Amino acid sequence: MSGKGGVGKSLIASYMAVALARSGLKVGLLDLDFHGPSSHLFLGLRSKRPGLTLDKVEPVEGPLGVKVMSLAFLTPEEESPVIWRGPLKSSAIIQLLTEVNWGNLDFLVIDMPPGTGDEALTLAQTVKYIDGSLIVTIPSDVAKNVVARAINFAKLVGIKPIGLVENMSYFYCPGTNTKYYIFGDSVVETLSSKYKIPILAKIPLDPELPEYVKNGRILIIDKPESPLSSSFNEMVSNLLNILNNINSSSTKSGR
Ligand SMILES: Nc1ncnc2c1ncn2[C@@H]1O[C@H](COP(=O)(O)OP(=O)(O)OP(=O)(O)O)[C@@H](O)[C@H]1O
Ligand SMILES: [Mg+2]
Repeated sequence: MSGKGGVGKSLIASYMAVALARSGLKVGLLDLDFHGPSSHLFLGLRSKRPGLTLDKVEPVEGPLGVKVMSLAFLTPEEESPVIWRGPLKSSAIIQLLTEVNWGNLDFLVIDMPPGTGDEALTLAQTVKYIDGSLIVTIPSDVAKNVVARAINFAKLVGIKPIGLVENMSYFYCPGTNTKYYIFGDSVVETLSSKYKIPILAKIPLDPELPEYVKNGRILIIDKPESPLSSSFNEMVSNLLNILNNINSSSTKSGR
């Protein structure tokens, strides 16, 4: 999540799901951005429809076996708007969690809408145990303040922020072997030290991404050696370490 719109939450949720699956884990991805679902596009699943059995909805099978569910698979047209008030969204979230045949997963990654609204509150109030939230920012002072609000919101509602990700951190130019900080100085270190949340990764801007999305291809699968792909591997490995530490300290404290 992130308080800010357009910072790359959906790209990060989607590619993180793929990177987790690449490390051998069983992964699901639930897109809770009802008004602007887009994770399915990053996963090359445009125009897919979920299967239906008598009592469950079958998630769409994405790259590397990632199970994906999104309202985008259920609306009549790609451009159909979703006009829902809070209570309807809350019951849709519960249905998407309980009436989709997720099977046994190691991870369910949830892509949140921008802002800090009903969706996050419903999750916090209805899901008994959430490992935590990953907070996405970009290098921008404007984003920093909005993201700081999201961190405080997540803490207050009990979805502990366990990692920060800075997207569009830099552009790596293969020709000159140089990193260019297009958006300016990083802000994630300041957030990390102020709120005591570790940085999982700094994700580069990749100018090839739009072409991959347009063609329904997954850049980090097709180009596993790219800086983008390496940054997702680093992110996943840091995330797994953090979760291991949390789990071992909660086992020790008898939680
Ligand atoms: N690292 C990156 N390199 C290149 N393009 C990127 C990168 N991250 C995101 N983008 C592009 O920026 C745009 C916004 O990304 P995305 O949709 O993931 O943001 P979001 O935070 O989920 O937005 P929203 O708040 O609307 O849900 C997309 O067009 C995406 O392809
Ligand atoms: Mg999004």
